[in-house]
Amino acid sequence: MIVATTISEVRAQVRAWRQEGLTIGLVPTMGYLHEGHASLIDAAVAQCDRVVASDFVNPTQFGPNEDLASYPRDFEHDRQLLEEHGCAMMFYPSVDEMYPDGGGKTDTYVEILNDMPKQLCGKTRPIHFRGVCTVVSKLFNIVTPDKAFFGQKDAQQLAIIRRMVRDLSYGIEIVGCPIVREADGLAKSSRNTYLSAEERQAALILSQSIFLGEKLVAEGEKDARRVVAAMTEKIQSEPLARIDYVSAVDGVTMEPVEQISGTVLVAMAVYIGKTRLIDNFIVEG
Ligand code: PAF
Repeated sequence: MIVATTISEVRAQVRAWRQEGLTIGLVPTMGYLHEGHASLIDAAVAQCDRVVASDFVNPTQFGPNEDLASYPRDFEHDRQLLEEHGCAMMFYPSVDEMYPDGGGKTDTYVEILNDMPKQLCGKTRPIHFRGVCTVVSKLFNIVTPDKAFFGQKDAQQLAIIRRMVRDLSYGIEIVGCPIVREADGLAKSSRNTYLSAEERQAALILSQSIFLGEKLVAEGEKDARRVVAAMTEKIQSEPLARIDYVSAVDGVTMEPVEQISGTVLVAMAVYIGKTRLIDNFIVEG
């Protein structure tokens, strides 16, 4: 596997692959890779001739009081996981390589101006999706993939990227991949590493509440407010949990819905101690 740290190395290799007529898949990550990321790489390897994974903790998507400085990193672990899963190139740029103005700052952003980035996570992370769209857009321009792979765990991010791709006419297919869970149900996340043993146990309340919501919908509940209320009550039974949001929204626009009809995303963000975790399920229309 090639490890590239500069944009020009990536461009040269991509050009060579294109000359051979090969298709290219991109898996954008912020590193500290786990089985959830591995499943994205596996999907990309199955669907594309060559896979590029970016490993970059993107400063523009972190707010001033968020965990940019403490975000977990492990280059060697990431390199090995990517290699084992058949990734052809790891793109591991410095902050200055991605943001040449220095200090992880830029004067040029890609931003969706409707309400999509203001719903759900956007309420407490107002600049987050602007940073995500900006870095993903840069990665699309650098790698020029045929397909890009994102996890359904970040369902709002996935919907926003689909919208960006549509609005900016990127000729890239966006592939959403299912949430990968631990054996006990907790959704895999790089941030799970922040949890103490007691918090790790308490964090199960997220997936338990997700499974409860799914069960209610499977049994025929159509009132989104009742589903959200039952899930909320379940989470509130855990003393270490503090709800940021539990919401049912339209799966495409992210606008709140009252009825479970069409494609609906039921999503949550919950603090366990100081760690903010997210989880969701989708009801397909
Ligand atoms: O989902 C993530 O890890 C990040 O938001 C992404 C898409 C790699 C952009 O930095």
